[in-house]
Amino acid sequence: MPGPHPVEGSVGVSGMSTCLEGLKEAHGRPWPKELIALGPEESAQQMVLRRIQELSDSDQQDPFMLADLDMLASRHQAFCQALPQVSPFYAVKCNSSPWVLRVLAALGTGFDCASQVELEQVLGLGVAPSRIIYANPCKPASHIRYAARHGVQLLTFNSEEELTKVAQHHPGARLLLRLRTQDSQSTFPLSTKFGASLEACGHLLTSARDLGLAVVGASFHVGSNCQTPQSFTQAIADCRCVFEMGRGAGHDMSCLDIGGGFPGTEDSGPKFEEMARVISAALAQDFPEERGVKVIAEPGRFYMESVCTAAVNIIAKKAVLEPGGSQKLMYYLNDGHYGSFRLGHREPVPRVPIVVKVRGPLQPQESSPLP
Ligand SMILES: Cc1ncc(COP(=O)(O)O)c(C=O)c1O
Repeated sequence: MPGPHPVEGSVGVSGMSTCLEGLKEAHGRPWPKELIALGPEESAQQMVLRRIQELSDSDQQDPFMLADLDMLASRHQAFCQALPQVSPFYAVKCNSSPWVLRVLAALGTGFDCASQVELEQVLGLGVAPSRIIYANPCKPASHIRYAARHGVQLLTFNSEEELTKVAQHHPGARLLLRLRTQDSQSTFPLSTKFGASLEACGHLLTSARDLGLAVVGASFHVGSNCQTPQSFTQAIADCRCVFEMGRGAGHDMSCLDIGGGFPGTEDSGPKFEEMARVISAALAQDFPEERGVKVIAEPGRFYMESVCTAAVNIIAKKAVLEPGGSQKLMYYLNDGHYGSFRLGHREPVPRVPIVVKVRGPLQPQESSPLP
């Protein structure tokens, strides 16, 4: 998911929920210029339209992105209400805009970081290292050393090679073994790249013990925008097996990380509440609360997808003749696959733009959604 283009005056909008009021006081006055407060009765959508108007009147055509910070706070609330037994560790890779991270830090989320840059960003906000998981099972040695120096202890792994690296550079780490999942129905599968098979876990757990490393639990990711909530049920059951194997190998297994995969919108696919019910049932079955296992998650899309609005301009168009003689219009935007829409080619989800400002009357063939 894209991060906002840091265009002056257009990174965040807020109608000032209580949490954001607190942040404002902590930050001092006046508001930084990249934060825009909504006017009375103004919606974030209206603000986007106003901003487009203002910028185009001043001959400013660059694309920009707005994040509705109140909506972000609501998404956090929705997550905590539906899954009160799960602590969210926001996946920074999803959108690392400083104000997004500041708001989430103020709301008390944890953070899932995938690299040293992300660790630096989150630690730089004063977030305690205990609220961070370095959740990339394939890490450069120098980034592992950085995590060790800065007290970030919770790390994931899925191979023997990674264990060797961690033993050398971060022997005090607390490790989560990342499991492969059935994620073929997800919009963005991850398990071909990351995750150990259940069969490989026994050996990895004894290798970790022999290297003097502490494995404290298991993690998985069912693939982003998961279409089958039952994937969580299976993965949680598999983690229970890993916990048993881990205890057998002498590890103190106390943390389960259920990753991301939650829907960003309610447009299509399973609803979040339904998914949360399936997850809660699986947790109650395999990790009942009285066992005292801490459960965390790494939501990204769920927090950000409906929070951000990208505003782009059509900067050129071209008529092309198709082989059968019909004419097709091609539109060129000033943001695309190399920018905010860089995941577009991996996610076969049609993006339907909302046309907000038209120069001159629309031609009939121009009124249809852009490809
Ligand atoms: C390790 C990890 N955690 C969390 C996420 C966020 O997933 P989602 O956006 O589906 O919540 C990703 C996404 O790629 C990921 O790779």
